[in-house]
Amino acid sequence: MFASLAVYALLALKICAVGAFPAYESLAGLSREELDAVVSSTKWVPPPPPPGPLTDQSSKLVHDAAHPYQPLQPGDQRGPCPALNTLASHGYLPPLNLENSFARFLVYSTFLVNGNPITNLMSIGDKTSLTGQDPPRPATVAGLDTHNNCEGDTSMTRADAYFGDNHSFNETRFQNMVKFSKKYGAGKYNYTVAAQYRKFLIEDSIKHNPQFSLVSPRLFTAFGESVFPINFFIDGRDTSGQLDLDVARSFFQNMTFPPDFHRRNGSISNFGQDYVTDLMPNFKPGYNAHGVNSYVHDPTSATLTQPCVRYVNFVNRNIKQLYPNPTGILKEALKINLQYLYEATVASGDGCTQVFPYGR
Ligand code: HEM
Ligand SMILES: *[C@@H]1O[C@H](CO)[C@@H](O)[C@H](O)[C@H]1NC(C)=O
Ligand SMILES: *[C@@H]1O[C@H](CO)[C@@H](O)[C@H](O)[C@H]1NC(C)=O
Ligand SMILES: *[C@@H]1O[C@H](CO)[C@@H](O)[C@H](O)[C@H]1NC(C)=O
Ligand SMILES: *[C@@H]1O[C@H](CO)[C@@H](O)[C@H](O)[C@H]1NC(C)=O
Ligand SMILES: *[C@@H]1O[C@H](CO)[C@@H](O)[C@H](O)[C@H]1NC(C)=O
Repeated sequence: MFASLAVYALLALKICAVGAFPAYESLAGLSREELDAVVSSTKWVPPPPPPGPLTDQSSKLVHDAAHPYQPLQPGDQRGPCPALNTLASHGYLPPLNLENSFARFLVYSTFLVNGNPITNLMSIGDKTSLTGQDPPRPATVAGLDTHNNCEGDTSMTRADAYFGDNHSFNETRFQNMVKFSKKYGAGKYNYTVAAQYRKFLIEDSIKHNPQFSLVSPRLFTAFGESVFPINFFIDGRDTSGQLDLDVARSFFQNMTFPPDFHRRNGSISNFGQDYVTDLMPNFKPGYNAHGVNSYVHDPTSATLTQPCVRYVNFVNRNIKQLYPNPTGILKEALKINLQYLYEATVASGDGCTQVFPYGR
């Protein structure tokens, strides 16, 4: 998939040797100029542009003999994304046909928050020293488990962060997915189920999670993810739009392709999301303001129909907050990644106006 190609670039390019990079922690007493001098003396290569759309977008066998399931080894990372977990289990990043501009936006927005801009490495799970020396706080570089961007409340199979484990497969939640699939999908997960289950998840979190929040950017991934299993986890030879629940469990829990799995035919992104939004026409981004059942609208959040507000706020608030005053190669690296992020909004036809928090 395109996303995985881009993720591959992000994950696999070990651009600077971690051992040769002095610890920022130990530089706490140095001036900004001294810090810059150290940073710019290390070997750094600007991140290369992301790959474009795949030439061959047809369905094909991806669970092939060359890529068997590899059980977790000590030290392996897994996180909240069933697709990335599965790709990691098979030791390669075969194209799942995620549409290119969508993939790029997803990857760069996630990477800017959770990855290391200098080493170009990101954890698909928890924070790890494998991504290299962290840039100065308040940057976190804490991997996909980080509860601030993509990862967030109302996941289908992961509990809200308030309840502790925000990234492991949760059987109780999966059973709710099963229950809704039986009730609305004759035992399969389809767009009708996706809509009903998302509505339930939101109502459930309002009722039980005193710290519940569903605002941009998480808002966008929450609604998009609801249809992802239908768009990507159904075998490419099956055009029914009905996801078998054993197949779902194979991805969500076992982190493995089903036997003989073929990827979908043709690229796609969040097609079908209309089913979900149409069921909740009055839903507005917001949060529980004072304990459970106190949901209020947050007018500062982008809504699902405001992709450019999402982009601008993400850059000017989320990224600026993590990197208030970057200098040297850190600033250069951020600018390049922000440029790639912006280009993804252009490619997806949103026509947003570019913002430059760190200059042009
Ligand atoms: C074809 C590609 C992909 C598919 C099919 C996919 C599928 C999914 C699904 C279904 C979930 C929801 C899990 C749940 O609610 O229980 C999810 C979560 C997540 N995905 Fe992916 N994903 C893809 C690509 C990516 C990429 C490229 C990234 C970032 C680099 C990413 C990051 C995440 C994160 C951080 C979550 C956690 C969100 C949450 O809190 O639920 N995914 N993904
Ligand atoms: C699983 O999710 C349920 C419902 O959200 C939650 O109450 C429970 O604590 C979670 N279990 C674990 C082990 O995290
Ligand atoms: C999410 O899970 C990770 C890994 O266990 C943990 O480090 C992090 O604190 C959790 N986030 C929240 C907000 O609970
Ligand atoms: C989902 O499945 C139910 C039960 O078979 C069916 O009535 C409904 O039309 C399906 N929805 C979609 C979008 O396929
Ligand atoms: C998941 O893995 C377990 C243990 O290997 C296996 O028994 C089970 O059949 C698998 N289930 C699915 C749906 O892949
Ligand atoms: C894949 O999709 C293309 C374009 O929609 C179509 O022409 C082709 O027949 C499909 N291939 C398969 C194997 O379904």
